Amino acid sequence: MGGGAATGAMSGRPAGAPGRAGRIVAAAPLAIGLLAFGCATPALAGVAVDAGGKVFRLDGGHVTYALGVDDKGYLQPLYWGPEIDAQAPLQARVSTELSGFDPAGMQTAQEFPGQGEGLVTDPGIKVTFADGNRDLVLKYRAHRIEGTVLAIELADIGRPLTVTLRYAIDESTGVVTRSATVRNDGRQPVRVEALASATLTLPGASDYRLHFLSGRHAAEWSQHTVPLSPALTVLESRRGSVGHGNQPWLAISRQGQTTEEAGPVWFGALGWSGSFRLSAQADNIGRVRVAAGFNSYDFAWSLKPGEALDTPPFYAGYSPGGFGGASRAFHRFQMARIIPGGERAPLRPVLYNSWEATAFDVTAEGQIKLAERAARLGVERFVVDDGWFGERHDDKAGLGDWTVNPRKFPQGLKPLIDRVHALGMSFGLWFEPEMVNRDSALYRAHPDWVLNFPGRPRTEGRNQLVLNLARTDVRDHLLGVLDKLLRENDIQFIKWDYNRNWTEPGWPEAGADQQRVYVDYVSNLYHILAELRRRHPGVEIETCSGGGGRIDTGIMALTDQAWTSDNTDPFDRLGIQDGFTMAYAPAVMMAWVTDAPNWANGRTTSLDFRFLSAMQGGLGIGADLTKWNDAEAATAGRWIAAYKGIRATVQRGDLYRLVRPVSGADQTATVYVAPDRAQAVLFAMQRGSQWKDQWAPLRLAGLDPARTYAVRVLGGGALPEGIPARASGAWWMNQGLNLRLRGDYVGMGLVFEAVKQL
Ligand code: GLA
Repeated sequence: MGGGAATGAMSGRPAGAPGRAGRIVAAAPLAIGLLAFGCATPALAGVAVDAGGKVFRLDGGHVTYALGVDDKGYLQPLYWGPEIDAQAPLQARVSTELSGFDPAGMQTAQEFPGQGEGLVTDPGIKVTFADGNRDLVLKYRAHRIEGTVLAIELADIGRPLTVTLRYAIDESTGVVTRSATVRNDGRQPVRVEALASATLTLPGASDYRLHFLSGRHAAEWSQHTVPLSPALTVLESRRGSVGHGNQPWLAISRQGQTTEEAGPVWFGALGWSGSFRLSAQADNIGRVRVAAGFNSYDFAWSLKPGEALDTPPFYAGYSPGGFGGASRAFHRFQMARIIPGGERAPLRPVLYNSWEATAFDVTAEGQIKLAERAARLGVERFVVDDGWFGERHDDKAGLGDWTVNPRKFPQGLKPLIDRVHALGMSFGLWFEPEMVNRDSALYRAHPDWVLNFPGRPRTEGRNQLVLNLARTDVRDHLLGVLDKLLRENDIQFIKWDYNRNWTEPGWPEAGADQQRVYVDYVSNLYHILAELRRRHPGVEIETCSGGGGRIDTGIMALTDQAWTSDNTDPFDRLGIQDGFTMAYAPAVMMAWVTDAPNWANGRTTSLDFRFLSAMQGGLGIGADLTKWNDAEAATAGRWIAAYKGIRATVQRGDLYRLVRPVSGADQTATVYVAPDRAQAVLFAMQRGSQWKDQWAPLRLAGLDPARTYAVRVLGGGALPEGIPARASGAWWMNQGLNLRLRGDYVGMGLVFEAVKQL
């Protein structure tokens, strides 16, 4: 599954004009029940269809997801939660009218309702036919099983429009991947005005809580909880990109039942890096309705006869293990199924990035100096940030001109790259391909290439405009430029930045069809990323958008790591990292150690504290190393060496949040446990010290109770008094350990290693 929206090739149309409606799929109708199993399979794994072809279930990872067709032909959601037995009497029942105000069609919870029949909750799809008809009623037509994917075709009750829903369940985590394809089999275009990847339903209850993430630049990933009520809650981006605001992720818990480590959590994430909309609401009888997909705000797609439009994937998961269980399951799913390379993806190297040290003042000589110092610390990848290209001396010029600045690099990048390689590091370079400054050769040559409405102002953000990547000529230009740079320079890593959002999202050449820009833009972005990966398999990519402004499970499939936030303050980062890991895996979460006082908030912290904070993800250094004294360099070298001994556990292990950095909290503790449970790493971080306080006992989690674990201090040093040098997993998890940290902004790491039994 997966793949997301439309990546098909374009052909035979003028540059800049739309000509593609998603992926064009064969219009052959599905044969009813063609590939149905005929009977429910006994093993609770994969897809099963009952003998009558009316009930479909997906079982995996101790989760069951079921849906069924009722006597009127509606496809109904039947169940989503803990695994239920194969004989469970699942059956779709026709709902009756609740009152004259609530007709039967509206009361029937549909798996993917069309906007019609008086639907008052968010639809799966809303269309306007060429004659102005806006009533769409979808009923079951056919299903088939394609490998591990269940495809169910719905069709309008009268008009030749079909929607195919696709489902696959992950055997190990129970995460269900869903997507939808709408196809126009008629002779007139159909205007698609809203299209979800999935709509989901949970049975009525009054104690549901909705959890989501939002933020702003340098303050991303804050966590929010609201009651799920009849008030529609919308999490969205209207910005063309994901943005720093709401994340395309949500979780639903039950108040009084769900805690960090126990109780039900349903969660979902949309794999889409553009404008999105996730909504949740309790309907008139308290059932939860969730819809997730393209943002219908300002969106429209004219679906030509015979054309189809695919949605991106929506990942839907359930865990009985609280927020911790839910996030660990989703992390595992991302590592196995989304991140390039899956479980074989290489660990994140320790990187150095020059941005906070040099800003735009980048020269070959200065970068070589930094590279030499970085290498001495044990850094494995050296990344030159903004400022190396065009006339880029500040943020007013140069974006768009991706040629090496000859005054800063008189002999090109080669001498620097060679030196970096000779120092044993890989080399990375910053790009912001989708943007252009007015003061650039590219803009002077192609002022029509930016998103704009003719005759209207072109609003700038950070002095830059957004190139209209929906245009094929822009897409091909950028692919060509990047491909050439990668062919001509020995580069192993790209930091792909995106430093503003859309303002005037016009695409004049596309005329009345231009509201498809929201989909075409992102599809072309994915196309470039996929093509670069194909042509340059050795190059890794980081997604960045002024920090964490473009992180989602769509871009995750095409990038290797994410720049979490421009806020590099180590204490703020604890909250940021806690929020990030609610949704996304530490495997891609980058964090840098930078200089103090921190640029974002002026806070001064020790180098030890900065390292302990940044080591809880992929470690990087972003400080001005030319200013570090020998003692600081030695400290950094020690921490980097220590990190290499635990990074596999941090990046690929299970994350348990023992003490969460909720607002105002003085203490935070996280534990990362290796998949084989042979190593665990505890990070205990303290903001402030008062009243000779001692921490409440820290009880570890995730260890093997029967194994003996020896403990040592991460980075070296004596064990704090009262902590035994070794004890069983059961002891560490039930008795726990008592910590007393003294001072403000102090932390400690403890490494637990399973002792080999002789
Ligand atoms: C963005 C990124 C930073 C840095 C600057 C360069 O803000 O998030 O890390 O690359 O751009 O201009």
